[in-house]
Amino acid sequence: MAEKLVPALALQADELSRHYRVGRGMWRAPATVRALNGVSFTLPPRRTLAVVGESGCGKSTLARVLTLIEPPSGGALQLDGVDIASADEATRRRLRRRVQMVFQNPFASLNPRKSIAAALAEPLINFDDLGAAERSERVQQMLQRVGLRPEHAQRYPHMFSGGQRQRVAIARAMMPGPATVVADEPTSALDVSIQAQILNLFMDLQDETGTAYVFVSHNLSVVQHVAHEVLVMYLGAAVEQGPKDAVLGQPLHPYTQALLGAVPVLHAAQRRTRVPLVGELPSPLAPPAGCSFHTRCPWVQPRCREEAPVLRDVGGRRVACHVVQA
Ligand SMILES: Nc1ncnc2c1ncn2[C@@H]1O[C@H](COP(=O)(O)OP(=O)(O)OP(=O)(O)O)[C@@H](O)[C@H]1O
Ligand SMILES: [Mg+2]
Repeated sequence: MAEKLVPALALQADELSRHYRVGRGMWRAPATVRALNGVSFTLPPRRTLAVVGESGCGKSTLARVLTLIEPPSGGALQLDGVDIASADEATRRRLRRRVQMVFQNPFASLNPRKSIAAALAEPLINFDDLGAAERSERVQQMLQRVGLRPEHAQRYPHMFSGGQRQRVAIARAMMPGPATVVADEPTSALDVSIQAQILNLFMDLQDETGTAYVFVSHNLSVVQHVAHEVLVMYLGAAVEQGPKDAVLGQPLHPYTQALLGAVPVLHAAQRRTRVPLVGELPSPLAPPAGCSFHTRCPWVQPRCREEAPVLRDVGGRRVACHVVQA
């Protein structure tokens, strides 16, 4: 029998952007929010890319574009090696099941009127030619796999605790056998004691299934725990991206350093010179000229106010900063 061909990449993003037209009241012309502005990365199976950055930097917008909830305004997205822009309708339907989303609030992805069994069986009804008995069998296996009990199948979302509900949401995402799961702050609404359990569940499932993850989180200790690669976003664009050990271990971009500076460090030996993050995130309606970080940067040079730095390879990662030396 021919071996099933596994694409080398679960997901590939090339210069993805997503812009929104927003009204500004009666007397002013509508403006454009560049919520996502040219983000690129590749994601092989069994790898986790963590996306970090302040509130409003475009993390959820990226998540929605990657999961085909919204089309990109520009750039290209490949799922399973197929460019979604040139895929026909049948291929798009097939690809849609290959990338699944887990939200911060699992209520957002669970229908309150559907039992857990019905919610988990749904992707199989839409996509697979399985009998009712086989579907029910798969639902039971998945419930057990995510740490829930058989009797939970007949319950409804409101009857679960937050942690259990997130287990259901993860089970639902895993049900169609996705190549990629995009999780948007999946543990931020949970008690700290539950967070670690859910993170470990994500990691065990990745070991078993080879699913790739895009993991959006503002919590850097969560990122430290789960990520292989890290993408640091500022105003819709990557300022630093690469292997976790490089980006979090020896951050080069002043913004990454500032984000890390906000994390409490327990051991004096780990303490580095802190770059304070001053000022507010500028409005994405009117991003600063030149380097978008220059208004808050402690290293700002005249060049930074005029010329936008491009991502370049420095020290085993990519960084967009005029001042960082190779
Ligand atoms: N549908 C939309 N219409 C207009 N603007 C939008 C829309 N969705 C997002 N935005 C804007 O795009 C920017 C990025 O939003 P996004 O939700 O992606 O940020 P985020 O990084 O997920 O933030 P948070 O950490 O708070 O979840 C914000 O300025 C937001 O106001
Ligand atoms: Mg968000």
